[in-house]
Amino acid sequence: MKINITCIPGDGIGPEIVNEAKKVLNKVATVYGHEMVFTDVLMGGASIDAVGVPLTEETIQIARQADAVLMGSIGGDAATSPWYQLEPNLRPEAGLLRLRKELNLFANLRPAVLYEELKDACPLRADITDLGFDMIIVRELTGGLYFGERQTVVEDGIRKAIDTLVYDENEIRRIAIKAFDIAMKRKKSLISVDKANVLDSSRLWRTVVLEVAKDYPDVTLSHMLVDNCAMQLVRNPAQFDVVLTENMFGDILSDEASMIAGSIGMLPSASLNDTKFGLYEPSHGSAPDIAGLDLANPMATILSAAMMLKYSFDLDKEGAAIEDAIKQILSDGYRTNDIYSLGCKKVGCKEIGNLIAERI
Ligand code: IPM
Ligand code: MG
Repeated sequence: MKINITCIPGDGIGPEIVNEAKKVLNKVATVYGHEMVFTDVLMGGASIDAVGVPLTEETIQIARQADAVLMGSIGGDAATSPWYQLEPNLRPEAGLLRLRKELNLFANLRPAVLYEELKDACPLRADITDLGFDMIIVRELTGGLYFGERQTVVEDGIRKAIDTLVYDENEIRRIAIKAFDIAMKRKKSLISVDKANVLDSSRLWRTVVLEVAKDYPDVTLSHMLVDNCAMQLVRNPAQFDVVLTENMFGDILSDEASMIAGSIGMLPSASLNDTKFGLYEPSHGSAPDIAGLDLANPMATILSAAMMLKYSFDLDKEGAAIEDAIKQILSDGYRTNDIYSLGCKKVGCKEIGNLIAERI
């Protein structure tokens, strides 16, 4: 199979981790007889430095024409980077949000799994980690607070800022359908997370999710308030299988889920539209403090590449080969700094990529 992949290395550790993912994908291509063509484009801070804006029309076009997009990370240190002196709509993150919107990537899938080998890296008590967990957060990605109207004004000498949280029923329905479809392929258990005791948008969310549920009688649906969900994730993560939620809640809960999985450096993600096209990126940020030091954990990006093979190209065997290779290097004791525990072998970003590629 010939596959055209647009790569967005991005900022901070982005270029390093994307390099390792390409290395692993190239090995997959050799072993399984595929051809992968990578086209690098700029986005975020790298694009600001080169052309003054975080995302160009040309980049959008190149991404649109690819079979899939593989991204590292974008953004810098808001306290020190000049990018954050710019207007909000010209900052690195604005590029990513616009790309998500332009490509209609409304479904963000973030699996959080506790690997047996990483139990020691999990900050939770042993009696909780002993139960393990394997969940997938289905986060709505092109609506809600992220895309509602916003403004900052001064009224009677008082500064005031407004963000708007908007969802229409179609936006809720299509992400709910995605989540139910995923639940059908897993344990047929879905928890929809909202704040229906306060927000109108959440009450509509719950109503529409209940309507969609009628088409999935085999799926057990329950609703959970987002504050309770934040608590349950650390109290009893094993109870979750598929978690469906809106954009902002999903942003926060997925960081929490990645931390209990041992490190944010392990959590991949897929952002999909209603075709097979997707953008694949680690759930973590650009970690500018360790950029260029060969300290980054490329595993979330490499796992994102595995998701790409499975979701966009139906290459399940190849995707599984990457996941197995990662399990093998973990059980062989190799660790990057973020997941290191006593007795393991600490290695850098490049070496982890080599070790994974060798095992494909
Ligand atoms: C994420 C990130 C982004 C988000 C930022 C970089 C805009 O935190 O993908 O979770 O908030 O969606
Ligand atoms: Mg986030």
